[in-house]
Amino acid sequence: MANIEITLIEGDGIGPEVTKSAREVLNFLVENIIWHDVVAGGKALDATGELIPSQVLESAEKTKLILKGPIATPIGKGFRSVNVYLRKHFDLYANVRPSKSFKGVSTRYSDVNLVIFRENTEDLYAGIEKRVDDDTRHSIKVITRKGSERIIRAAFDYARAQNRKKVTLAHKANILKETDGLFLEIGRRISLSYPEIEFEEIIIDNLCMQLVMDPTQFDVFVTMNLYGDILSDLCAGLVGGLGLTASANIGNGYAMFEPVHGSAPDIAGMNIANPTAMLLSAAMLLKHVGEAEKGELLEKAIEYVLDSPQNHTRDLGGIMSTTAFTKLVIEALASEVKRVC
Ligand code: NAI
Repeated sequence: MANIEITLIEGDGIGPEVTKSAREVLNFLVENIIWHDVVAGGKALDATGELIPSQVLESAEKTKLILKGPIATPIGKGFRSVNVYLRKHFDLYANVRPSKSFKGVSTRYSDVNLVIFRENTEDLYAGIEKRVDDDTRHSIKVITRKGSERIIRAAFDYARAQNRKKVTLAHKANILKETDGLFLEIGRRISLSYPEIEFEEIIIDNLCMQLVMDPTQFDVFVTMNLYGDILSDLCAGLVGGLGLTASANIGNGYAMFEPVHGSAPDIAGMNIANPTAMLLSAAMLLKHVGEAEKGELLEKAIEYVLDSPQNHTRDLGGIMSTTAFTKLVIEALASEVKRVC
């Protein structure tokens, strides 16, 4: 079988701890991975004077596959987001973010099963900001037909392929009549090509309320960049928090997998981060490269470990360390692999 070459960016904060976990688990599960370690973000800036040294882009050009830990972005000043740069540079237009309840993690809700399709290259993340004068700043929201069509189609294609029942398009077209109006108009038109899938449109603020009242009424979401970003954390909260939610950034030919969470500076270096989000991102990577069975095996092993509250990390109310949790996942994989063979 051909080697799987992965560009690995460990990232900042808890990034080194959770990517180490993912590397160990993937190395256990798949024999033929070739890792290309590169550094981006604050660490790279300190070492080389560049946020994204050319090796990062060259490596990803070659492998077309990135596994990435979170990268910190200074708030309100300093450098622009490396995450946003990578998504735009490789035109990774579809940010796919599942949030699913785990039997072993108790929250107010028990059967959440949501997938967000977040447009990943446009909107207020286009970076078009301007100081008009000392007291006035402008930020431009960019929504294009091409950008909207491809993310909405991606959501419907996914719903069709996965036998999902409904696609909900979240917007604020009552206020943003041009930008969100275009996105909504395209959604309405594309939905007609998928008659077997229910299409629902909803104003984003109402959606937030509805989600908290009863998340089980929703299925697949499609929305613009900023709403998708906020919605992702909301959905993570419904299933037990940011330690549990993974994501894929998919473009034409390139893909990047990373947890939804950030660098969590408050717990960095303490060996208490929950590696589940990173491990589930690795499972999404495996499915993307045609190793669906191994991806599912990894998901099952994580579910199995999470089934016992004594295995939970601190974010879930437990005391398990990152490294001990990783060991348990590998043990669960080992017994599952033995059982299958
Ligand atoms: P955050 O996601 O880093 O942390 C929010 C809260 O969740 C914190 O209390 C943290 O301890 C907790 N948390 C997050 N991941 C966890 C895990 N795996 N296990 C246990 N607890 C976890 O969000 P915050 O604080 O807003 O951002 C910190 C930095 O991360 C910022 O510089 C931000 O720009 C960056 N960031 C990077 C992202 C990326 O690389 N894709 C995504 C989001 C934020």
